[in-house]
Amino acid sequence: MSEKITSKKAMELEDKYGAHNYHPLPVVLSKGKGPKVWDAEGKEYFDFLSAYSAVNQGHCHPKIVGAMVDQAQTLTLTSRAFYSDVLGVYEKYITEYFGYDKVLPMNSGAEGDETALKLTRKWAYEKKGVPEGEAKIIVCENNFHGRTITIVSMSTDPDAKKGFGPYTPGFIVIPYNDLDALEKALEDPNVAGFLVEPIQGEAGVMVPDEGYLSKAYQMCKDKNVLFIADEVQTGIARTGKLLACDHENVRPDVLILGKALSGGAYPVSAVLADDDIMLTIKPGEHGSTFGGNPVAARVAVAALEVVKEENLAERAENLGRLFRDEMKKVDSEMIELVRGKGLLNAVVIRPKNGKTAWDVCVKMAENGLLAKPTHDHIIRFAPPLVISEEELMQAIEIIKKSLAAFE
Ligand SMILES: Cc1ncc(COP(=O)(O)O)c(C=O)c1O
Repeated sequence: MSEKITSKKAMELEDKYGAHNYHPLPVVLSKGKGPKVWDAEGKEYFDFLSAYSAVNQGHCHPKIVGAMVDQAQTLTLTSRAFYSDVLGVYEKYITEYFGYDKVLPMNSGAEGDETALKLTRKWAYEKKGVPEGEAKIIVCENNFHGRTITIVSMSTDPDAKKGFGPYTPGFIVIPYNDLDALEKALEDPNVAGFLVEPIQGEAGVMVPDEGYLSKAYQMCKDKNVLFIADEVQTGIARTGKLLACDHENVRPDVLILGKALSGGAYPVSAVLADDDIMLTIKPGEHGSTFGGNPVAARVAVAALEVVKEENLAERAENLGRLFRDEMKKVDSEMIELVRGKGLLNAVVIRPKNGKTAWDVCVKMAENGLLAKPTHDHIIRFAPPLVISEEELMQAIEIIKKSLAAFE
């Protein structure tokens, strides 16, 4: 595997031997450091996707990679059939970090969401008194929680859902950012939880009205319904606070984390909750061979330490404001709207002469900046949070130059 191949060859191989479940930009990456990546021919780019906000701490952060290599040379996997001498240390660290009694470690974001759904149903039957098999969970239109059968069952995106039925029942879908709809849905006594993204990332960085989360949380409390926050994309400093829910001082009953929990070095996800909820799941009722493995445990501690040591939340807050201010000043007919929080931002593109957000992304890649369209007309801009102000300004110049090419 040490043989270097050209970008052309790499794309041919993926196309021929890999399933066609993605449509990548024609860029082949072979190296990353901090906010930058390099392609197979050595061309340098700013990474403004950060692997969908997994690489908040920057590519190949030395502290995170150091912890990973050290643990990989010591002990990689025990399964949960035995204790390990690092899992408990990680569990203490993460629960104190986010202020919960317990954590349930998993690997992917989707697994984190599945875990939260199971936990919510179990709590409903054991604690709330919902009749067995009747629990319902409220979710929002245009949600994105992953790709499993149950998760696509609650999706409203035809691409994610169509052709994969029969679907898992037990979900009530309401519009996002709509408290009246939530109030109505909460009238059903069998509702166990409300699963929500504090900002809908995949939907195009949809930021709800101020007060939405705190009011929704209170409405859930009034009905003894769990408020479940999917912070897989918004968590770990991305939006300018440690959690996006912190902007409204909401402490979710069930918190789902993934992506940047490892700084992009390793698949690590987690569900956090207090004992009253978490202890409804008993031995044998849930788990994963790799969940909470020694490498994941060490990587996650290092990744969370970096967030505090490097003040990533504050950086995201300040640089995010700068990014939006600068983008709003750009004189381009193609910019319809700029929105976001912290360094999770989106620009809505108005197509011009048949040129769309995809063409803008291809042009930006030519000019040395990588970003990806979501839903045809929206471009998400989410660089690693370690980007410097000077680098951010250079990146903004690339975006301006790319848009100017279509004027
Ligand atoms: C909010 C949210 N939840 C869950 C997921 C799924 O995470 P994974 O791809 O690690 O399964 C994503 C991925 O983009 C996400 O944005």
